[in-house]
Amino acid sequence: MQRLTTRNGLDLPAIGLGTWPMTGSECTQAVRQALEVGYRHIDTATAYDNEAAVGQALRDSDVPREQIHLTTKVWWDRLAPKAMRQSLEGSLRALGTEQVDLFHIHWPGKDWDLARSIETLVALRDEGKARSIGVANFPLGLLHQVVETLGAPLSAIQVEYHVLLGQQPLLDYARRHDLLLTAYTPLARGQAAAQPVIQAIARKHGVLPSQVALKWLLDQDGVAVIPKAGSRENQLANLAASNVQLDDEDRAAIAGLPKDQRVVSPAFAPDWNS
Ligand SMILES: NC(=O)c1ccc[n+]([C@@H]2O[C@H](COP(=O)([O-])OP(=O)(O)OC[C@H]3O[C@@H](n4cnc5c(N)ncnc54)[C@H](OP(=O)(O)O)[C@@H]3O)[C@@H](O)[C@H]2O)c1
Repeated sequence: MQRLTTRNGLDLPAIGLGTWPMTGSECTQAVRQALEVGYRHIDTATAYDNEAAVGQALRDSDVPREQIHLTTKVWWDRLAPKAMRQSLEGSLRALGTEQVDLFHIHWPGKDWDLARSIETLVALRDEGKARSIGVANFPLGLLHQVVETLGAPLSAIQVEYHVLLGQQPLLDYARRHDLLLTAYTPLARGQAAAQPVIQAIARKHGVLPSQVALKWLLDQDGVAVIPKAGSRENQLANLAASNVQLDDEDRAAIAGLPKDQRVVSPAFAPDWNS
């Protein structure tokens, strides 16, 4: 499994398992199976209501905890210092671990004290409750404030990214500041594989359209993917995406697809262009 690293210590398997919207025994079963077939990176969040289910799978699995990268996130209404701390402590209890590998602020807050939240995020890392820290769904201006004005030692950002949504400015920024970019919703929930352009590339190479969509992301420096897959068949197919070989003609065809098709933009989302 290809791994991505940062100078400040994040060591992230390039392909992880997304766990939303699985909960309960469905989630435990999917994570246990993913570990069995070779996944070593699991993405969860308090908001997914499945951390206890993920924790059960970790305990059931033969794979030692230290070989598994675990990401969790704190929800945007829990960003005050005490609430954030309680959120991560609850996550650790539910997951049955003393430390997560990566802890993200899930979305920017509303009317919040950004500096105090970031100070708390950094303190939780310094205390060893999270090995690395990051932010998700932060637009470029806010990320700039966190990294350069506040000087937070982030290791990663997590944002929606796929063949139908461009993220070049964030990606350029991440590379300049030694941050990894985890692409969520990397299959655009089926819309990527439904594109005739993607299907034609898949036919040309004798692979699946979903694998073409994932490999386009994996071929980019510093980009990890976390497709959600419940079935063993889809989990294996997504892992095998790393073996696909795309060529310049494929990349040019994918570059021609629309790049403004955002799938995830809830009411509390920030102004994406801010
Ligand atoms: N930070 C954030 O705000 C945020 C927001 C959204 C998502 N996420 C994370 O990103 C993860 C992935 O995103 P997502 O669930 O929104 O979308 P996604 O991964 O783009 O798509 C998931 C869908 O694709 C299907 N699928 C997976 N592999 C497939 C394959 N090889 N062939 C055909 N279909 C396949 C899955 O079905 P099966 O399950 O049946 O295989 C599921 O219906 C989430 O689970 C979550 O961990 C983070």
